[in-house]
Amino acid sequence: MPHATHPRAPYEQIHRASLDDPEAFWLEAAEALDWETAPTRAFDAEAGAYGRWFPDAQLNACHNAVDRHVSSGRGEQVAILYDSPVTGTRRAVTYRTLRDAVATLAGVLADLGVEQGDRVVIYMPMVPEALFGMLACARLGAVHSVVFGGFAANELAIRIADAAPKVVLAASCGIEPSRIVPYKPLLDAAIAASAHKPDACLILQRPECAATLVEGRDRDWAEAVAAASRAGRTAPCTPVAATDPLYILYTSGTTGKPKGVVRDTGGYCVSLSWSMPNLYGVAPGETYFCASDIGWVVGHSYIVYAPLLHGCTTILYEGKPVGTPDAGALWRVVAEHGASCLFTAPTALRAIKKEDPRAERIKDYDLSRFRSLFLAGERADPDSVAWAERALGRPVIDHWWQTETGWAIAGNPLGIGLLPVKPGSACVPMPGYDLAVLDEAGKPVPPGTMGTIALRLPLPPGCLPTLWGSEERFRASYLATYPGWYDTSDAGVVDEDGYVTVLGRTDDIINVAGHRLSTGGMEAVLASHPDVAECAVIGIRDALKGEQPCGFVVLKSGVARETDLIERELVALVRERIGPVAAFKLALTVQRLPKTRSGKILRATMKRIADGEAWTMPATIDDAGVLEEIGESLKGRGIGA
Ligand code: COA
Ligand code: AMP
Repeated sequence: MPHATHPRAPYEQIHRASLDDPEAFWLEAAEALDWETAPTRAFDAEAGAYGRWFPDAQLNACHNAVDRHVSSGRGEQVAILYDSPVTGTRRAVTYRTLRDAVATLAGVLADLGVEQGDRVVIYMPMVPEALFGMLACARLGAVHSVVFGGFAANELAIRIADAAPKVVLAASCGIEPSRIVPYKPLLDAAIAASAHKPDACLILQRPECAATLVEGRDRDWAEAVAAASRAGRTAPCTPVAATDPLYILYTSGTTGKPKGVVRDTGGYCVSLSWSMPNLYGVAPGETYFCASDIGWVVGHSYIVYAPLLHGCTTILYEGKPVGTPDAGALWRVVAEHGASCLFTAPTALRAIKKEDPRAERIKDYDLSRFRSLFLAGERADPDSVAWAERALGRPVIDHWWQTETGWAIAGNPLGIGLLPVKPGSACVPMPGYDLAVLDEAGKPVPPGTMGTIALRLPLPPGCLPTLWGSEERFRASYLATYPGWYDTSDAGVVDEDGYVTVLGRTDDIINVAGHRLSTGGMEAVLASHPDVAECAVIGIRDALKGEQPCGFVVLKSGVARETDLIERELVALVRERIGPVAAFKLALTVQRLPKTRSGKILRATMKRIADGEAWTMPATIDDAGVLEEIGESLKGRGIGA
């Protein structure tokens, strides 16, 4: 079914207006929120690394996401619909219940000593209490930092050490379809390994696995909340400066040390509020389903903050696109809860397509209220998009963003008017994004030419103002390469119509099942094995996950142990240090690594060989025979042949 598309005029006018007069544009957008002190100006160019948004305003994110909806008559509307096929439970939380739960939990946190500006690490699965925790922090003006459950203790320790939380909120376990993941031993190991120790941990005991509490430090969540309720203990919303941080979210950088992306409060609430009607075409009162995880930026923005800020019902889905129980799972949730919009990662779509290629499962459900599917997190392959469009008969919209930006850089603004879809392209820049493709010298290239995608400063509201405790790294990582621009580290092309196509990273980040991972981080783990002399990790093409990591290792001379055994140890080591989310399953022992004469490992050529693509012998190669050896070792595993 062809979808009605619109002339470009409304979009172009809106985008132009956002760049020509950002003050007027964003002050108008800010009217969607309740402010303690309303902004009199949108931007202060002198503050921060590139300016700050809403410098003279004050608000509270929890008030805007929760309390004001109760006051305005949405108290009985469901705010959170928890649907958990892995536990066989469902729960509907109204805005009123949410407000009361969050106010009480905020009281508990305050009694544990949490004050405005303090950090709270949240290591929890997809349960309503995790959202209560995030919103309770926002209520107090405290800064939450959610850590994804698929990370190992070591990664959690790095984040605890960097964020220095006063309190940690955790659950006893997460639940994967194949196993229960006890979180508490990981948390205890992380705290033991971290130089910073939190004062207290609040532990949500799940019936699937009871955690042992540490005397003096750990509190039982349910008991603490029950005691606070009995005592009528609640905490009010604390107004904070719009420029104050709402959260820190760690993401992979080019080294093993993750980057603490800081999100400010006002700019974020404004940009998310703008995006709900204009990009996603969703109205207050409707149901929004983002099938991501609260550990990722997509989950922060579109499971938690944006739908609640906009007065929608948000679905919290603790399950997978396949296997819980089948490839119709997402369509079931959409149908049963009447979602108008679904947002997921292309990898989920590929998993569904693989199990249900003829889209039979879709026919089992009444999708009459469902209007659009949005995809992000990795490149949406045109085949999967076309398959979903045919199967659903609705727009399937690819949009591009990063943890750093907090919301879409480019997308197809459904609410303004759907623009013609070009397969493979993430469509056009959103308001406030002045986007260009640059050559190595930092000069914009003509349409159709590939280069690095850069955003002219200032970044729009919602994007990171800095990295936590590391202004220097922020400037060096993003602002130094092209003065006056933010370097996205994504390569791509913009065509004559202004459509953006993102082709891949320019750094060592790879994207595995929509999860962003640092190959440098994995190399550091491999190099720590006593038998490894040197190593290189690359992302190789994977039909389901987009990419999968593949590690090449050269053993120290004299190592006589079985290579099979060492390779298994290496796989286990990455899982233990980084976590199952790294999906590191492939370690290959080789005699030598291909290098240039100056000693640089030829990762890009290795990747082309592994992906079965045409490649040419680099002129600078030190020893041409090594690439053949790499090809042979890959062929031995059935790769790249
Ligand atoms: N806690 C603990 N472990 C987790 C976890 C969590 N929250 N999430 C994933 N894992 C584990 C998985 O169990 C798996 O472990 P295994 O190696 O023992 O099988 C491993 O981490 C890799 O997980 P994943 O890459 O997600 O693969 P999968 O095989 O479990 O599922 C898909 C495949 C395609 C169904 C899945 O990747 C998916 O749904 N992806 C969606 C991605 C997404 O939403 N990204 C967010 C960006 S928008
Ligand atoms: P993350 O910070 O985890 O959201 O990952 C951001 C990275 O994922 C981007 O820099 C891109 O490389 C990739 N990415 C996200 N969305 C898209 C998309 N729609 N198309 C292509 N790549 C994408």
